[in-house]
Amino acid sequence: MDSQEWDRRYASADLVWTAEPNRFVVAELADLAPGRALDLGAGEGRNAVWLATRGWQVTAVDFSAVGLDKGRRLAAARGAAVDWVHADRREYQPQAAAFQLVLAAYLQLRADELDGVLRGAVTALAPGGLLLVVGHDLANLTEGTGGPQDPAVLYTPEGITRSLDGLTIMRAERVRRPVAANSPPGGHREAVDTLVRAIRG
Ligand SMILES: C[S@@+](CC[C@H](N)C(=O)[O-])C[C@H]1O[C@@H](n2cnc3c(N)ncnc32)[C@H](O)[C@@H]1O
Repeated sequence: MDSQEWDRRYASADLVWTAEPNRFVVAELADLAPGRALDLGAGEGRNAVWLATRGWQVTAVDFSAVGLDKGRRLAAARGAAVDWVHADRREYQPQAAAFQLVLAAYLQLRADELDGVLRGAVTALAPGGLLLVVGHDLANLTEGTGGPQDPAVLYTPEGITRSLDGLTIMRAERVRRPVAANSPPGGHREAVDTLVRAIRG
C-alpha cells in the first residue's frame, strides 16, 4: 500500500488499530530503562505514545499524514510528547548510533525494501541498544488469521535476522496473538507473528 492508500484507510475509521500498545511490545519492552526510541512505521501511534508515557523520548516515523495526526491526538489525550516525523521509511535516514531502542512493528514491506529499512535500523542503534521487530509471519496464511495475504510482505524469523549483521540475536521466533473473532461470538482466533529481539553489542 502507498501513503495515499494508508491515508484513506486511516481516514475511514476512528482507529484502525487500537489505542493500546501491541502485546509483544509491552511484554518485551516494559522492563527497559527509558532512553531515546525510534518507532519506524508508527501508524496511529499506539506504541510510540505508550513508550512516551513510560519516559521514553520517542521519534515516530510514518508516511501517512492522517495516521500521524491520529497519533498526535492520542499523545495529547495521554499527555505524552512524541516527535512525529512524516517520511518514507525507505528514504528516511535516522541519526546513527543515537537510539537505545528501535521498534519496527508490522512494517509489511517487500523483502528488498525491508532489508534496507532494517539495516538502517541497525545503524541507528546506540551501543547496547535494542531492536524489536514484530510483524505478520508467512505461516499466518495457513495457520493464522488476518493480516496481509501477499506472501511477499510476510516475515519469517530467518528472513528478518538475515538483515541484522552486527547484532546479537536474543529471540527470533514465531509467536501467537489472540484476535477477537465474530464467530463464534466472543471467541477468538490466533494470528501468527514473527518476533525478533536483538541488541547491538
Ligand atoms: C500495519 S501499520 C502498523 C502501525 C504501527 N506500527 C502499529 O503497530 O500500530 C503499518 C504502517 O506503516 C506505514 N508505512 C508503510 N510503508 C511505509 C513507508 N514506506 N514509509 C513510512 N511508513 C510506511 C503505514 O502508513 C502504516 O501506518
